[in-house]
Amino acid sequence: MTDTITIRRPDDWHVHLRDGAMLEAVAPFTARQFARAIIMPNLSPPVTSASRAAAYRERIMAALPENADFTPLMTCYLTDDADADDIVAGHADGIFTAAKLYPANATTNSAHGVTDVAHIMPVLERMQDIGMPLLVHGEVTDGSIDIFDREAVFIERVLAKLIAALPELKIVFEHITTEQAVQFVDSAGPNIAATITPHHLHINRNAMFAGGMRPHAYCLPVAKREQHRLALRKAAISGSRKYFLGTDSAPHEVHAKESACGCAGIFNAPYALESYATVFDEEDALDRLEGFASVYGPQFYGLPLNEDRVTLKRGSLAVPDSLETADSTLVPFHAGAELIWRIAQS
Ligand code: NCD
Ligand code: ZN
Repeated sequence: MTDTITIRRPDDWHVHLRDGAMLEAVAPFTARQFARAIIMPNLSPPVTSASRAAAYRERIMAALPENADFTPLMTCYLTDDADADDIVAGHADGIFTAAKLYPANATTNSAHGVTDVAHIMPVLERMQDIGMPLLVHGEVTDGSIDIFDREAVFIERVLAKLIAALPELKIVFEHITTEQAVQFVDSAGPNIAATITPHHLHINRNAMFAGGMRPHAYCLPVAKREQHRLALRKAAISGSRKYFLGTDSAPHEVHAKESACGCAGIFNAPYALESYATVFDEEDALDRLEGFASVYGPQFYGLPLNEDRVTLKRGSLAVPDSLETADSTLVPFHAGAELIWRIAQS
């Protein structure tokens, strides 16, 4: 049995770091584990321009602990009237790594999202030309479609058509949750990849209703049936370069989660790598963890691999029930449970 593994330092290809006091509270967790992260732009107001992204990047850097070795990779929040020139210039200047498509009203702070992909086709054409990745929240928002089917329907109604129209566009299908998404990504070209969260590898939809309503298991896209969780596990450990780590860590204060209308989002940043390692160990695939966590993401984005290493050791890790930050309480993923891998102190 393997008791220690050393891998290249990983990156997180999808994280919500928020702003203000919450940013200060959560940024150190992500910077402790990851060398780089793709920072989601769904602030209020959203990060829709290169100047806003540059200012947000400064605020992130200011929130990091001294000596932190962490690079935020910024994204542009696409709206119906996204400015192609600003996005292309922002990419050329090294401010934007990618742009994010939120269908309008699909999730937290997405009211300004895109109402119809047709509106942003000129922007996407330019992105295709310069090789700038499009990150997609893949859910339709049609109220007549069951919430558990929204990802599968998005593939048919939007994604397949988008890829047919722009076959060279680099696309990351974010936080996939279904076997349909896995099948779609598997059969698409090398310019189509996907991120997978730790929570969608650990829980199925029963977790939201285990003995009562469990707001801390609620995120978007929502966890699906067991067969989908198993398909995601298979994809993550497959060794395919199309699947890589993206936590979708999405903190909300405890009172905003435990409320009559609780916010979507699972805060997994504190123990994300340990959580993934536990899954790969359960699947007897620890030898594939490095590819998923530290290699395929940078390769897809055309970025260098990290040279630092991190060591994980087998050993019980008790996850606290909650984490107190300067002015809020956050409940981490796996609260009160035990993980079987921990990061070795260097
Ligand atoms: C995210 C958030 O809270 O910003 N929530 C979530 O459940 N993942 C938004 C998102 O990524 O959908
Ligand atoms: Zn997200």
